[in-house]
Amino acid sequence: MPICGVELARQSGFSAPMNQPPAAAGRHAPATARNRDPILAVLAPILPAHGLLLEISSGRGEHAAFMTPRLPAGLDWQPTDLDPANLADIDAHARASGCGRIRPAVVLDTTAPRWPVAAADAMLCCNMIHIAPWAAAEGLFAGAARTLPPGAPLVLYGPYRRDGAHTAPSNAAFDDWLQARNPAWGVRCLDSEVTPLAAHHGFRRESVAEMPANNLTVVFRRDAA
Ligand SMILES: C[S@@+](CC[C@H](N)C(=O)[O-])C[C@H]1O[C@@H](n2cnc3c(N)ncnc32)[C@H](O)[C@@H]1O
Repeated sequence: MPICGVELARQSGFSAPMNQPPAAAGRHAPATARNRDPILAVLAPILPAHGLLLEISSGRGEHAAFMTPRLPAGLDWQPTDLDPANLADIDAHARASGCGRIRPAVVLDTTAPRWPVAAADAMLCCNMIHIAPWAAAEGLFAGAARTLPPGAPLVLYGPYRRDGAHTAPSNAAFDDWLQARNPAWGVRCLDSEVTPLAAHHGFRRESVAEMPANNLTVVFRRDAA
């Protein structure tokens, strides 16, 4: 399902989905070029120097290709996605980056009771929970609780409502667009939906950073044992 162009659609009014076939160098999700530096600025200081970052819903894999070479040399990146059709793009972008610390992409559905990656030291999930049924968010936190050790970070990026309200007219319009496409999708409320779900699975919200185009980067941290 060609849904990785939707952040672009929200930010620029451009509505054509990106549905070109995989290319040798990997298809592009244009919004990534605009959000990758601000996300990395939040992510880099909180990651461990060694271990594995597990990325959920990698899409085309451009965050992995851009960020991994800029992170500590002891950190590997494991990209994943629900859609097997994305794996070739992810691996193509990884190869083009020249960074040997990006592992081959694997299929991971957050709602699965067991994930193909059993342990990680940090997790990142960009632009998924609004464009998937709520069960995907529930599975994300349940899986993170199985996969991360106490004290590890889980970082989310995307649009959110705050205290039930949209933060910008463009986010409200995007929410309408999402729900018209699939009534189970929608911009989630960080305060009344996502943070309580996180707490239920043993994650406390540590920080919220405002990003370009009315997005947020939210850091959750697994409670100490
Ligand atoms: C809008 S794209 C975001 C891609 C990338 N993270 C980015 O920010 O450009 C949403 C991605 O979520 C994935 N996705 C949807 N439901 C999922 C699930 N239950 N488990 C894992 N990934 C899922 C889709 O396959 C898609 O690649």
